[in-house]
Amino acid sequence: MLKPLKLLVFLPLTVLISCGSPTADSDEQTVDSTQTTSLVVDDVHSYSNVNEVNSTHLHLNLSVDFEQRILNGSVVHSINNTAGTNKMIFDIRDVEISKVTLDDGTETTFEIGEADDLLGAALTVDISPETKEVEIFFATTPESEALQWLNPQQTAGKKHPYLFTQGQAVLTRTWIPCQDTPGNRITYSADIQVPTDLLAVMSADNPTEKNEEGKYHFEMENPIPCYLIALAVGDLEFASLGERTGVYSEPSEIEKCKNEFTDVEAMVEAAEGLYGDYKWGRYDIIVLPPSFPFGGMENPKLTFATPTILAGDKSLVSLIAHELAHSWSGNLVTNATWDDFWLNEGFTVYFENRIMEEIYGKERADMLLSIEYQELEHENEDILNGEFPEDTHLKLDLENRNPDDGMTAIAYVKGAMFLKTLEATVGREKFDDFLNQYFGDHEFQTLTTEVFIAYLDENLLEPEGVDFNVDEWIYGEGIPDNCVKVESDRFLKVEEKSIKVPIVENAAELGINKDEWTTQEWMHFIRHIPAEVGADKLEMLDKEFGFSDCGNSEIMAEWYVLSIERGYDKINPHMEDFLVNVGRRKFLEPIYTELAKSEEGLALGREIYAKARPNYHAISFNTIDEILGWDS
Ligand code: BES
Ligand code: ZN
Repeated sequence: MLKPLKLLVFLPLTVLISCGSPTADSDEQTVDSTQTTSLVVDDVHSYSNVNEVNSTHLHLNLSVDFEQRILNGSVVHSINNTAGTNKMIFDIRDVEISKVTLDDGTETTFEIGEADDLLGAALTVDISPETKEVEIFFATTPESEALQWLNPQQTAGKKHPYLFTQGQAVLTRTWIPCQDTPGNRITYSADIQVPTDLLAVMSADNPTEKNEEGKYHFEMENPIPCYLIALAVGDLEFASLGERTGVYSEPSEIEKCKNEFTDVEAMVEAAEGLYGDYKWGRYDIIVLPPSFPFGGMENPKLTFATPTILAGDKSLVSLIAHELAHSWSGNLVTNATWDDFWLNEGFTVYFENRIMEEIYGKERADMLLSIEYQELEHENEDILNGEFPEDTHLKLDLENRNPDDGMTAIAYVKGAMFLKTLEATVGREKFDDFLNQYFGDHEFQTLTTEVFIAYLDENLLEPEGVDFNVDEWIYGEGIPDNCVKVESDRFLKVEEKSIKVPIVENAAELGINKDEWTTQEWMHFIRHIPAEVGADKLEMLDKEFGFSDCGNSEIMAEWYVLSIERGYDKINPHMEDFLVNVGRRKFLEPIYTELAKSEEGLALGREIYAKARPNYHAISFNTIDEILGWDS
């Protein structure tokens, strides 16, 4: 057992809650890293006063209105008023509040502060020190960015509308008035009314079949940060994958999903073998329509996933390993603020790779990490040469910025490489013991980088007598020199093929065994095609390997970027098809960025975008608007 770790946390952890909403500042605070929720850290991305009064449970009562595209109803917060204050502050953005009541239903007064584009506004509710419950009656608006409403045409079945939510990082407040900080954990329950031909599912215990009333009840009994509250409503079917795993999708996609995810149950077992019991009961996946802006989102009990991982050959399932890994790193042990995001993602990329190694072997795991490492090298350079070189620190400072700015390869891959380098230093066995203990000691808690560093010192570095450049990794720029190398023999062989492209007349001469290469090898091959290779040779490759419409989203996205750069325009119809149908920002961003580099490309990009934009989630179109200078 960990000794209660008492440490004094000075500024910047005790900085004021953001945006001109001054709150009482305390000079120093005590962090007990064994407490079940750490409420001591102020979060610059939330107005809430969780250190005085915090929500412990919320109950949602909502009806889903597809005609008006709004959610309508109320949220009841059970509260814990540690400071005995008369004001409770919630975060809201683009929601309309009609009234607020306390306990037995008496109406109370409230005030809405000035709204900020990103953070929304503070909703300050008058309570008394004895108040136990606050019920907020509200409706969402068309601007509520957490919600994406799809018309039937934008779904696979083309017959029914669809709705899904995306809370991380600061969007939950656009569909639920709440204390929207990862530093506070809550349990939740919900009663959701939907049209009777649709099924509703949440990050909670889920139904597997529709019922006649279209009314669904949900419970999440583990305390979670509220960015993990999630809802999807559509014409959904469920298929079992294993004893505690399953998948939801539209009926026409369900067979494909079942075939792609046959290894998911084994992944859960592998993950448990590495870092301890899975604490969430079931692990299900919902495969959303292609406009989902991310690859995956680790909503507890129910990972939300893009259909672009359905390659037909299980080659992109590392994304599931990633979201599953978040059931420990992120959902069990959570970053206290978005400046500590690497604690979520760095651990998860490391853990994802270990799961992949368990199931598919070291060779494949090394290739995956090598691909990710290449992305880190590029992005690290870009960031160092850009406006915010300090974004290459693991510990970020995102005050007055969008927390999504922290979603870079630094948090993900530099974070994972930090852990890999620690592993190499102390040995895998010791490191695994440490991680096991780390997850066990901090389960259902939130953690700052500083508390993690103290824990690492006390439980690994000091006992092992290891001197490690932790500060350089966490507070320093770029990638430290002692970063372990990621090597893959198979990639070396791929590079031999890539460099031959300029000298062969016919792609068959490259001697590539098409059936044996993995997705990662194809990606590596495309990335290493020499700079002098122009459109004619790309056409030669395309004829032989059919990259342009191969159906593997990772390969297609990589290929389109290279083709634009080399002026190979036979991809255009396929690329257009891809851009109009897929809303995953990770693919869209590099393609539109490459297009925007030339006048002609920009014109084409804008022409396609005019058709594609209505299919994109706000998270994606906000990014692409900027790239194309789109005035919406
Ligand atoms: N939690 C993230 C997605 C996220 C991060 C959403 C920050 C909003 C703000 C999720 O676990 C993730 O990392 N998804 C990746 C896939 C992964 C395999 C790297 C993605 O969507 O690309
Ligand atoms: Zn992640």
